[in-house]
Amino acid sequence: MITKTLESALNLQINKELFSSYLYLSMAYWFDGIGLKGASAWLKTQSEEEREHAMKLVEHLADRGGTVEFSAIEKPKNSWKDPMDAFQEVLKHEQFITKSIHDLYAVAAQENDLPAQIMLQWFVSEQVEEERNAADIISNMTRIQNHETAVLQLDHQMGKRARS
Ligand SMILES: [Fe+2]
Ligand SMILES: [Fe+2]
Repeated sequence: MITKTLESALNLQINKELFSSYLYLSMAYWFDGIGLKGASAWLKTQSEEEREHAMKLVEHLADRGGTVEFSAIEKPKNSWKDPMDAFQEVLKHEQFITKSIHDLYAVAAQENDLPAQIMLQWFVSEQVEEERNAADIISNMTRIQNHETAVLQLDHQMGKRARS
């Protein structure tokens, strides 16, 4: 069994992962609208990955006999100043999620819940990758600035993203 404290902390994190999925989907269609199909595809993949994160937490909660309780998902933004502005929001959002995962891990430790701690260790490592991915894209965008050919090359490369 899982404690009520940890159960509600997990339900909150499920909502945050679903919001992440919604935010990246919204961003994917903003990129689609400005003709950067590669970045759009990258974000659609990221959106699916966020749904998988939510599902990992949902399954854990259900397996442990907890109650899965979905709440309303906040409306995401649907436009950004430019591609850099959008990816800066991705990085900022992932930093927020990292902090949230660390806090959730602290709750699992405080509740002395070993299975939840083991499950959450995967998320701790995943967040290192998520922040790194966003930071790498920002650093590439900083280098190319407004050189149209380079923007299209980067977009093409982002369209080739594999999962994870
Ligand atoms: Fe996530
Ligand atoms: Fe990832």
